Amino acid sequence: MEEIRQYLVQHKDRFLQELFEFLRIPSISADSRYKADVTRAAEWLIQRFEELGIDRATLYPTPGHPIVYAERILSPDKPTVLIYGHYDVQPPDPLDLWKSPPFEPEVRDGKIYARGACDDKGQLYMHLKAMEVLHQLGEWPCNVKFVIEGEEEVGSNNLEDFTRAHKDMLSADVILVSDTSMIANDTPSITVGLRGLAYMEVAVTGPNRDLHSGVYGGAVENPINALCEMIASLKDENNRITIPGFYEDVVELSEAERAAMARQPFNESEYRKELGIPCTRGEMGYSTLERASIRPTLDVNGIWGGYTGEGAKTVLPAKAFAKISMRLVPNQRSEKIAALFTEHFKKLASPCVKVEVTTHHGGEPAVVSTDSPGYRAAAKAMQDTFGKEPIPTREGGSIPIVAMFKEVLGLETVLMGFGLNSDAIHSPNEHFGIFNYLKGIETIARFHQRMAGEARQ
Ligand code: BES
Ligand code: MN
Ligand code: MN
Repeated sequence: MEEIRQYLVQHKDRFLQELFEFLRIPSISADSRYKADVTRAAEWLIQRFEELGIDRATLYPTPGHPIVYAERILSPDKPTVLIYGHYDVQPPDPLDLWKSPPFEPEVRDGKIYARGACDDKGQLYMHLKAMEVLHQLGEWPCNVKFVIEGEEEVGSNNLEDFTRAHKDMLSADVILVSDTSMIANDTPSITVGLRGLAYMEVAVTGPNRDLHSGVYGGAVENPINALCEMIASLKDENNRITIPGFYEDVVELSEAERAAMARQPFNESEYRKELGIPCTRGEMGYSTLERASIRPTLDVNGIWGGYTGEGAKTVLPAKAFAKISMRLVPNQRSEKIAALFTEHFKKLASPCVKVEVTTHHGGEPAVVSTDSPGYRAAAKAMQDTFGKEPIPTREGGSIPIVAMFKEVLGLETVLMGFGLNSDAIHSPNEHFGIFNYLKGIETIARFHQRMAGEARQ
């Protein structure tokens, strides 16, 4: 282990410079104007793999953005680790809230500021550097395969087909992903649960044109008012979601599991302070940690319509829109929830407006066992590098490919992430601690050593 640390100290600056180069490529998957940059990020990865002494690194075009596959197979006796990550990033806007430009990485206070610094370029690149460390130390404890996509932030539309078409190529003993958070830099944790997602868009249409709000207001149903009433009725006074059947498949945690969650280090007043909110609010009967991880949610992500320009225009708008997401927990299924939402939302509408509902991409929730060679290897690796046993945690975000890989490849994923919830992923001023980047590389290298050990047992 000392050797790994020494190598990291010697090569730290270059490891940072390489990551900065990666971060300078604006690989925004959602925005077609950046299509060439997204591909450039994939090609950049292929070049880095070629420097690593890997057997092969291939770019697979898809109808969307390319998938990068790389592997080094040393021996059928060694366990095979399949590493998944994504090289695409979220759009950086609102741009004016960034202290330094999102694609010009800058270090401030020991943290790397850039879009993708944590989600997921920084966390993904740790895996390539861990391979370099092991390679230079003359040791590849496991066979490794990498599958890296450029469409995670837009729903991983092509990864399932790719996985089905390359089942043998992707066969492995365990999948390793670093795209989640840990509790704190002095409190390592491993993610054992993620929520799923159903994402809806609704449109409410009233009169055939925008109307004078004095001439017609009060007599004609206003689509924005109607939409607001419908949305407001989706939760009751206890903040429970009112869609019939919504909770039908929700798995409740046992008292023991809830007690374990309550023992997790969590400071409610620091949480509020960090977010600048005077209080928290959510489903009655559940703690903040539970509300943000093991309970399903419904949130409006965007709402628009009518006049939003300068000054006051007196208008009764013809149309109103909203984007509404629901985070799902085991054993909810996104397709079923989307159908329940659609049926209920249409029923809610007043007869004076027309309501359309469309479904965007979704994803299934996932729970991961702590009783597997992969989890044990990760827990031991974290113990080695942090000097503390990691806490298994459930997180609120979604990585739909975890359930997909389980279904198609029959493989368990280990979610060993090194971000912090305060890293502002998807927000302005996203960052990733240099401590986290280096600790991640060290822990991943240890994971491969520990995984080889688990397999020998
Ligand atoms: N890495 C995140 C998911 C995440 C973040 C999990 C923090 C746990 C902790 C991932 O890139 C992401 O943003 N996923 C999307 C889902 C996707 C279907 C667009 C999400 O959670 O909104
Ligand atoms: Mn991610
Ligand atoms: Mn993300």
